Amino acid sequence: MRGLSGRTVLITGGLGDLGYASAVRLVEDGCRVALFDLKPDDGRAADLGVFYQAVDISDEAQVEAACAAVREALGPVTVLVNAAAHFRFKGVEATRDDWDAVTRVNIAGTSLVTKHIVPQMVEAGGGSVVNFSSVSGFVGQANFATYNATKFAIRGLTMCWAQDLAPQGIRVNTICPGYIYTSAFVNSCKALGLDEAEEDARASAMHLLGRQGRPEEVAAAVAFLASDDSSFMTGSDLVVDGGYLAK
Ligand SMILES: NC(=O)c1ccc[n+]([C@@H]2O[C@H](COP(=O)([O-])OP(=O)(O)OC[C@H]3O[C@@H](n4cnc5c(N)ncnc54)[C@H](O)[C@@H]3O)[C@@H](O)[C@H]2O)c1
Repeated sequence: MRGLSGRTVLITGGLGDLGYASAVRLVEDGCRVALFDLKPDDGRAADLGVFYQAVDISDEAQVEAACAAVREALGPVTVLVNAAAHFRFKGVEATRDDWDAVTRVNIAGTSLVTKHIVPQMVEAGGGSVVNFSSVSGFVGQANFATYNATKFAIRGLTMCWAQDLAPQGIRVNTICPGYIYTSAFVNSCKALGLDEAEEDARASAMHLLGRQGRPEEVAAAVAFLASDDSSFMTGSDLVVDGGYLAK
């Protein structure tokens, strides 16, 4: 992709499946990459040779210090990939605690990281923010209200920030994956006692292409939004869903 080599990239949720796949891809494209995640590095950040910091993105003091540490180590960030998310799936019965848990990370946490990275992009003369929404940010799904509301909100944040930041040369876009075959899928099958092959067939049938996506297919779209190849895109949704929404 054009213009990626040498860029400093920060990915939140960087030890998650899609954050890590994006890191692998952006390292291949020549970027200097930093990852934030809740957990200590399990060795994969070190294997990839990238900067790693354990950060709870819903804690502004931690976020501010970690963003400064990335600036110090790698120079100003010009690509921010907001992939971290707290997953809690509740319907109309959701409690105050459920709403606090999802909004604290998925909306406020995403906003806090962006707030503390934007000055680095301004310093560098521009940048690209890639926010993770989902097909769940477009449609209703039974018992998913807490998750989907935050994924709709991400698309709203993107459109508002695109207006705020265009004058500073910062583009803001949303990536909206369909169902991706990740460890979250495998773990949820195990946790719910479901047969993985049957669940894969059920999920696959929801997509025109007849399968779930692969993390590297999402990472390729992240690289596109991060790069100069998407230079006329801002405030947009890039849907990477194998035809889920078209069905
Ligand atoms: N997997 C899918 O099928 C799918 C589909 C559509 C959209 N998405 C979106 O893609 C993004 C990545 O999902 P994934 O499948 O890689 O999930 P994942 O669970 O593998 O990764 C999410 C990561 O975010 C981290 N995280 C959670 N709370 C945090 C906090 N407070 N501070 C810092 N890190 C925190 C987790 O530790 C985890 O490593 C999410 O925004 C999700 O909504 C995923």
